[in-house]
Amino acid sequence: MEIFYEITPLKKKLAALKSQNKKIGFVATMGALHAGHISLVETSNRENDVTVVSIFVNPTQFNNKEDLEKYPRNTEADVRLLEENECDIAFIPTVSEMYPTEDTRIFELGSVAEVMEGKYRPGHFNGVCQIVSKLLDIINPDNAYFGQKDYQQIAVVRAMVKKYMPKFKGNIVSCPIKRETDGLALSSRNSHLNDEQRQSAVLISKTLFKVKEMSDKGATQKEITDFVKKNIATDANLCLEYVEIADKDTLLPISGDLPVNAVVCVTVYDGSTRLIDNILL
Ligand code: PAJ
Repeated sequence: MEIFYEITPLKKKLAALKSQNKKIGFVATMGALHAGHISLVETSNRENDVTVVSIFVNPTQFNNKEDLEKYPRNTEADVRLLEENECDIAFIPTVSEMYPTEDTRIFELGSVAEVMEGKYRPGHFNGVCQIVSKLLDIINPDNAYFGQKDYQQIAVVRAMVKKYMPKFKGNIVSCPIKRETDGLALSSRNSHLNDEQRQSAVLISKTLFKVKEMSDKGATQKEITDFVKKNIATDANLCLEYVEIADKDTLLPISGDLPVNAVVCVTVYDGSTRLIDNILL
C-alpha cells in the first residue's frame, strides 16, 4: 500500500493509474477503522482495480469541540488494517493540507440536510459536504462507497454532488450496515463505551429489529415511535434524542400509515456517547 500525505503527489499517482484505464474506488473515513469501514473497502476492491481510502478527522463537521477532541485516533493501527485488507492507496492529509484557507462554502440542500441529524447537529452536514466535495474533486473516483450506518449522510452527499458537482461522473454507492454479532452497529464511537454501557447499547438495534417486525405486521407510525420511546426508556444508561420515520429518499417525516419506502432513524445517548442507528422498513 502506498501512503500519501499531500494532494499533489496523490493526484499525479491517480492520473497515471487513470491513463492505464484503471477503475478507481474510494472510501472516505475519519479513521479509528473497524469492520464496518473494512466492508466498504472489500466492496471497493471487488468492484474496482484500485482502492483509495482517506483517513481525515474533518474538523468542520464537528459542531461540538469536545466531540472533535475526544474522537478516537489511531493512524498506525488504521494503516495496518488497510494493508491487511488490500487497500492500494491511503490518503492521510493534515488539516492545513485540506483547509489551507478557511472553507466558507455554504451548501444549500434543503430539507434532506435540515431534518434529523441536520436539526440536532447544526453545521454538521455543511462540514461533511465541504470535505466530501474536496475529496471527490481530488480523487475523482469511478465509485465512492458510503455506509448506510450514516443513512442521511448518503442522501446529503448525493444531493450535494447533484447540485454542486455537475462534472462529477462517478457513482455514490450505498453499502449495508455492518453489525456486531449481538446487533450493535459498528462505530468508532463504540470505543467510548464502558462494559455496562456496551451491554445497554444492544437495546438500540434490538428495538429497531422489533420495529421491523411490527411494521411487517402493519403497525402504524405512532405505534412504532411510541414503542421505541418506551423501550429505550427501560434502560437507565440510554436516553433517546430522537426517533424519526422518514421517506427513504427525501428523508421527510412520514405520518399515518407506513409506506414500504420508509427508514426508521434513531439517535440515542449511551452515557455521554451519541450513537446512531437505523433500519429500512
Ligand atoms: P466515518 O464515521 O469514519 O465513516 C466512514 C464511512 O464508513 C461512512 O460512509 C460510514 O457510513 C461507513 N461506516 C461506518 N460504520 C459503518 C458500519 N457499521 N457499517 C457500514 N458502514 C459503516 O462518515 C464519516 O466517517 C465522515 O462523515 C466522512 C464521510 C468520512 C466525511 O468526513
